[in-house]
Amino acid sequence: MASEVRQKVKTQSASPIGPLGIEAALAAEANPSVQPRPKIFDELALTDRVALISGGNRGLGLDIAIALCEAGARVAYCFDLPEKPSEVFVASQDYVRRLGNNSRLEYFSADVRDQQLLWKKAEEIGDKEKRLDICVASAGIAKAPIDCLEYPAETFKEVIDVNTSGVFFTAQAAGRQMARFGRGGSIILVASVLGSVAARAHGVISYNSSKSAVLQMARSMACELGSKKIRVNSLSPGYIHTQMTGAFLDVRPDLLDEWSSLNPLGRIGRPDELRGVVTWLASDASTFCTGSDIVVDGGHCAW
Ligand SMILES: NC(=O)c1ccc[n+]([C@@H]2O[C@H](COP(=O)([O-])OP(=O)(O)OC[C@H]3O[C@@H](n4cnc5c(N)ncnc54)[C@H](O)[C@@H]3O)[C@@H](O)[C@H]2O)c1
Repeated sequence: MASEVRQKVKTQSASPIGPLGIEAALAAEANPSVQPRPKIFDELALTDRVALISGGNRGLGLDIAIALCEAGARVAYCFDLPEKPSEVFVASQDYVRRLGNNSRLEYFSADVRDQQLLWKKAEEIGDKEKRLDICVASAGIAKAPIDCLEYPAETFKEVIDVNTSGVFFTAQAAGRQMARFGRGGSIILVASVLGSVAARAHGVISYNSSKSAVLQMARSMACELGSKKIRVNSLSPGYIHTQMTGAFLDVRPDLLDEWSSLNPLGRIGRPDELRGVVTWLASDASTFCTGSDIVVDGGHCAW
């Protein structure tokens, strides 16, 4: 490779946290006074980052928020429908406070369908924190199965409004602040395996369609925002035990065996099984990942 090309590659692709891997090894060899030390956890650290999470009052959103705080985020702002946060949220807030790493969980009430409110809330966070680095759009709803040929317009529209438009408005609100501060950022849109493969024998046309739109939304936003160093990826979990899936299991306990049989691991997932992947997506360990759908489904899509 010609030296000017090599130089260009080095400049445009420089790691934000200095030489890593082979480069670090060669730098250490060239200067014996350099004391090598592990860098991989530095890459995953979210020290001082500010996060915005929709649907963060419970379930996947809240578990993800706790993980971001454990990884060192300055603050994770969670929002959801209820005026006041749940007891589980308050306990999680206290847990984060007691971690002793100066991280904090905050809550405010907002509906993801209210575009102007989300823009305003994100702007207030930007004004206060002077940065916004991470967004996880996790708010979502699922309705009881109905035959696709009978599916009511109102129900279809409601699901699309929350799961598609709401995810977009959340990403948009955060992206506007990321662009404002010019530091880049990572936006993670929570989709579902049901955005890629249809659930056999379940009439969930609204949910499946809403999640499929989120996959293309991530690719589309990634292409538009790459030049601002704002990365946008979708996350597609398989069946995970939360209140959303719990509501279906309460009515049809037999679904647990059915869902478990849909992947080679033979079980449904735990919310905490998304902690690592979301921390990675939010961090400098994934700086070349954008426009991707990250599937965490126990092999559901491979089965
Ligand atoms: N649990 C699973 O198996 C699974 C699998 C794949 C994808 N997902 C997706 O993960 C996300 C989180 O799901 P979960 O399992 O934690 O469900 P959950 O029902 O426990 O949490 C969803 C949260 O979104 C909030 N919400 C709903 N409508 C809202 C609105 N209009 N404005 C603001 N907040 C709103 C709810 O109040 C709730 O707190 C959803 O987008 C869901 O579709 C879940």
